[in-house]
Amino acid sequence: MLRGIFRTKNLDDILATAGGPQFALKRTLGAFNVTLLGIGAIIGAGIFATVGTAAAGDAHRPGAGASLMLSFVITAVVCGFTALCYAEFASMVPISGSAYTYSYSTLGELVAWIIGWDLIIEYAVGNVAVAISWANYFRTLLDNIFHSLGSTAHVPLWLATDYRTARLLAQNNPAQYAQDFGGAPHIFGHAIVFNLLAFLIVAVITVVLVWGIKESAEFNAVMVMIKILVLLFFIGMALYYVSPAKMTANWHPFQPNGWHGTFTGAALVFFAYIGFDAVSTVAEECKNPARDLPIGIIASLIICTVLYVIVGAVFTGIIPYNELVQKLTNEQAEPLTMALNHVAPPNVTWPSTIVAFGSVIAHTAVLLVFQLGQPRIFFSMARDGLLPSTFASVHPRFKTPHVTTILTGVLVGGFAAVMSIDEMVDLTNIGTLFAFVLVCIGIIVLRYKDPTRTRPFRVPLGPWLLPSLGALSCVFLMYYLPPASWWRFVGWLVLGLSIYTAYGYTRSAVGQKIGRPYRTPFPLKLASLGFLLTAIGLFTIPHDAGPLQLWREAVNAAAEDHKRALVGLILIGLGIISGILGSYAGASAGANGENRNDENHAAR
Ligand code: ALA
Repeated sequence: MLRGIFRTKNLDDILATAGGPQFALKRTLGAFNVTLLGIGAIIGAGIFATVGTAAAGDAHRPGAGASLMLSFVITAVVCGFTALCYAEFASMVPISGSAYTYSYSTLGELVAWIIGWDLIIEYAVGNVAVAISWANYFRTLLDNIFHSLGSTAHVPLWLATDYRTARLLAQNNPAQYAQDFGGAPHIFGHAIVFNLLAFLIVAVITVVLVWGIKESAEFNAVMVMIKILVLLFFIGMALYYVSPAKMTANWHPFQPNGWHGTFTGAALVFFAYIGFDAVSTVAEECKNPARDLPIGIIASLIICTVLYVIVGAVFTGIIPYNELVQKLTNEQAEPLTMALNHVAPPNVTWPSTIVAFGSVIAHTAVLLVFQLGQPRIFFSMARDGLLPSTFASVHPRFKTPHVTTILTGVLVGGFAAVMSIDEMVDLTNIGTLFAFVLVCIGIIVLRYKDPTRTRPFRVPLGPWLLPSLGALSCVFLMYYLPPASWWRFVGWLVLGLSIYTAYGYTRSAVGQKIGRPYRTPFPLKLASLGFLLTAIGLFTIPHDAGPLQLWREAVNAAAEDHKRALVGLILIGLGIISGILGSYAGASAGANGENRNDENHAAR
């Protein structure tokens, strides 16, 4: 491989660069704010939306049923290992950039780039899912309000969902489809469907974030209080309507699909926990990051786990498994409001209105934290030269990374308007779990590479045990995610490699120091093209097939997806060959060039 790509950044350099006046962010947050930011990021679409599919399953996965509560515990344990690792890192490297920065100092530039690129999945793609779920609950809320005012007005579904979800409904329940989408305008016989609501909320959040972090943190604190209260309200109402005896009866069978269902549920509700790590991205805005960050990360994770397990138990206790499966297949329904409507007397909609309101607030808080985190990762990558330097500019008056904030807003809002939530959740989960694996490994590496560095917080029980369990348990959850998310995830990583070889490798600050050329040499262009072709191939193949089935479809002309499988595999093949050739040629040329430059540096 190319020399220098595993070169790490010195931690002292990282801390010094971050402190430079031209990049300085305002330090306004304390431990309490950080915990609130954590909860703000954690409680959102996961508990309000993914619990439905996690409990009931769908065409591609078995449901956990009542064992959903166990799924939450399993995932909490997995996240707990990683939370400890994040806390150690964040206390030791208290600057923005999260896992990206940590891996730069431990595993080197290439891995750092991979993580930074991968974190786009966690933050931006995750927020696409949250914005879609926000739109669903917001629509339910408006409908309930109109209904209680005696009005028949409502937001049409074609402005609050995506095309593929509409098509799925048309297959499963044509009558319902006709009712929901009959009024949509058509072009060439196709209904126009896009999620205007999801797009609009992202636009509003973006404006708030460009305005400033302090205002945003206070805004977040109020929303966190509301969402905790509303989950408690959901639990209270459920216990009011359904007797403990009935709940216990509904918990049988506890695992309708055995352990497979429980673990698949755990992999899905992982989404509900994402966010405890996001607080590490505001390290540069903390008054005392070494203390505030570990407290914030661990406290927010514990509080949310307790709430989730209870909500999971109550949710599966008030609606029997079989009914849940049926409802979620045949209608577009938000799980928690649907469950409350199921047990409330007919025409009593105020409990579900309150839950819908709290849910909208909860989602808004999540959107806020992730829209806040993503630009700061772009910001750190740009500061290191892996992305163009305009990404690292801070607004002269508001002191926020406005360029990256607006870019994130445009991307997330645009995708939220057209994508389907389940696919976005699966992709987010796999990408985030992968980042967690690398963070856990990074802790072990850094304990050996830099044992004497001050660690205000240490993962207990030595460098191996808990970080290894963290990495292994994340891989375990990844295994339970559907094949589609794997293909898309690998495609995304390869696309990232293409950008790194074409741009980041030559422009990186570390690379410039060791004398890499400023313009991308031909072999690297070839490698970049190869990675690009591979990525396009990975995005082209049918995503619901595993590798063997894919091969069969490619060689069998009668198979349904034959063409896509064949074209995709050919692109992947060509891409891999050109990627390897380019990397190999670049490695020889790069090695010579860097040797010379190292000597020059030494001579100076
Ligand atoms: N944990 C966040 C949510 O559930 C991403 O919305």
